[in-house]
Amino acid sequence: EKINAFRQTLLDWYDKEGRDLPWRKDHDPYHVWVSEIMLQQTQVNTVIPYYERFMKTFPTVDALAKAPADKLLKAWEGLGYYSRARNLQRAAQEIVIDRHGQWPTTAAGLQELTGIGPYTAGAIASIAFEEPVPAVDGNAFRVFSRLLEIDADIAKPESRGVFFDAIQAVIDPQRPGDFNQAIMDLGSSYMTAVNPDSEHSPVKAFNQAYLDGHELDYPVKTPK
Ligand code: ADE
Repeated sequence: EKINAFRQTLLDWYDKEGRDLPWRKDHDPYHVWVSEIMLQQTQVNTVIPYYERFMKTFPTVDALAKAPADKLLKAWEGLGYYSRARNLQRAAQEIVIDRHGQWPTTAAGLQELTGIGPYTAGAIASIAFEEPVPAVDGNAFRVFSRLLEIDADIAKPESRGVFFDAIQAVIDPQRPGDFNQAIMDLGSSYMTAVNPDSEHSPVKAFNQAYLDGHELDYPVKTPK
């Protein structure tokens, strides 16, 4: 039915047109995690060269756990928000020392690590461990509010659960990581905040707000 048709359409498009990004070459949780932390406050095109250099400098979670502070600072220089790098190293030490190198494999478990919140936990759990959980960030708010005409105010903390539940109901249980990353790609191509191009979007037929002519009313966000 409709949910299956949506998944199929989205994933077919992702298989053909999804971005070829360096952290998508495999599903290693270390690769997924470092990329997600870098992408929190920095754009994809800026992150790419930093990510590639970082992986040459610190190829494994052990290497990161043991890195000298000056070397870590130098690898992060230019990305900003240096607390992200400090938290990254602290979490690497938690994995290597406290957990004997064993990654938590669920979103709930990943959130016990320093610096990993609900979004990052959902991204790593779905991409690296194929757990069918949403990765709810600003991009997911925008895309799903339009697709499903979700009126919950994204400025309100309690709306997160509304989106989480709505996405949970449509995420592809067979390919949750690709599903979440396809949503990210949709949000940075056809379903952008400004000047979306829904007319040519692969999921045009599923975009309820667009079909109703109210696309730019979504997401709903009251000024604080
Ligand atoms: N933004 C946040 N996570 C991303 C990912 N895995 N791919 C592309 N853009 C992203």
